[in-house]
Amino acid sequence: MKSYYVRTFGCQMNKHDSERIAGLLETSGYVASHAIETADVVVFNTCCVRETADERLYGQVSSLKAIKTGGRPDVLIAVGGCVGQRDGEAVRKQVPHVDVVFGTHNIHELPALLDAARSGRAAISVLPEGTSFASDLPSARVDRWHGWVSITVGCDNHCTYCIVPTVRGPERSRPLDDIVSEVEHLVADGVVEVTLLGQNVNSYGRDIYGSPRFSELLHAVAATGIARIRFATSHPKDISPATIEALATLPAVMPFLHLPVQHGSNSILRAMNRRYTREQYLERIRDIRASVPGIALSTDIIVGFPGETDEDFEQTLDLVRTVAFDHAFTFIYSPREGTPAARLTKTVPRDVAQERFDRLATLVRDLSYASNQREVGMVRPVLVEGSSRRDLATLSARTPHNRLVHIPLPEGVRALDLAGRLLAARIVVAHPWFLSGELTEDAC
Ligand code: 5AD
Ligand code: SF4
Repeated sequence: MKSYYVRTFGCQMNKHDSERIAGLLETSGYVASHAIETADVVVFNTCCVRETADERLYGQVSSLKAIKTGGRPDVLIAVGGCVGQRDGEAVRKQVPHVDVVFGTHNIHELPALLDAARSGRAAISVLPEGTSFASDLPSARVDRWHGWVSITVGCDNHCTYCIVPTVRGPERSRPLDDIVSEVEHLVADGVVEVTLLGQNVNSYGRDIYGSPRFSELLHAVAATGIARIRFATSHPKDISPATIEALATLPAVMPFLHLPVQHGSNSILRAMNRRYTREQYLERIRDIRASVPGIALSTDIIVGFPGETDEDFEQTLDLVRTVAFDHAFTFIYSPREGTPAARLTKTVPRDVAQERFDRLATLVRDLSYASNQREVGMVRPVLVEGSSRRDLATLSARTPHNRLVHIPLPEGVRALDLAGRLLAARIVVAHPWFLSGELTEDAC
């Protein structure tokens, strides 16, 4: 039997797609390999949202050449995902030892492309747009207790810095019944948490039903009996009062919202084509906090967008301080060829962007630490994810607010056996990026 290994770069959608790639390969007779060096087929599921992920991919694919020239010429290397979609044939020009290239719309073709490559036929296929959903393919889940469920693919927003609409295509929603039936199957299979995925979940359904139906979808998914529901990503201009109400009233919908603001200055928000102002964003946050007291908020922020002045950047710092996010992902702007912003000429010098980035990162760390400190002494229901990556004697678990808690593994128990269990934990120490806790006798 041939073995496979999938290396994933980038976002949660890619993690979802990688589980489908694995599921598809397993139904085609491949078995999972635990090491890239011993696999017969290596699949790179790629990301091109920022330059760093792009460069890392080409570095890693190049370094695999040694496996082929070092005695295993039959190993097949496949590049799929966003770089495959964007570069197609050109992937092979950069790294000729790649055997298969596929895109974001044709994951289902991978087994046939591997067969073609093995028999020396052309194995590059990228479709301009999608007709099927990767979610309809079989899945080999990484965690038996968690399911990624895609509800939309693509994006219609065209933020000027973003390559996603180019590589993932226009927004398409999956029928509500298909999603609910997938979650029902997951529940029957022992899954306790699902993450509903889309570039802009709040506009879910607009293309097939004429108006967004995300809040309805949340209600329908909650009715399956799943214990925890998370979702990403929300666009501030589209999050509706009905969705906020679902967050407030459905116990299974976790009290956590990732709401990317991207910038704090109105002129940069306009240049980014975000279609809201800082005032509107802050008003949304006020509404959400009024309806869901104590909700945890995270965001994405870009520093160094073309034309960003010191004043603009101060506006970002001010907004971050005003909201006091519990967490934020911060990025230095990287121009992506083919996006409107890549043509802008008033670029911010690298050292200036780096200095701003460092200031923002310090603020984000301080806010995250302060938010974690407020948790000390609380007893929270935590979902055990498994052992911590650094220490097998420590459990990793998540609170409803998505905070990571490290808990000493009780004696005589395996972390693996506790994965997927909901337990009660008392928070004892706060750290900037995680909490330390202990299991309590309390029921959760
Ligand atoms: N440069 C920097 N960050 C970017 N993002 C998307 N495109 C770019 C880019 N060209 C960030 C945004 C988005 C997150 C997933 O990546 O903040 O929300
Ligand atoms: Fe990119 Fe904007 Fe769509 Fe998010 S909403 S994927 S940032 S275009």
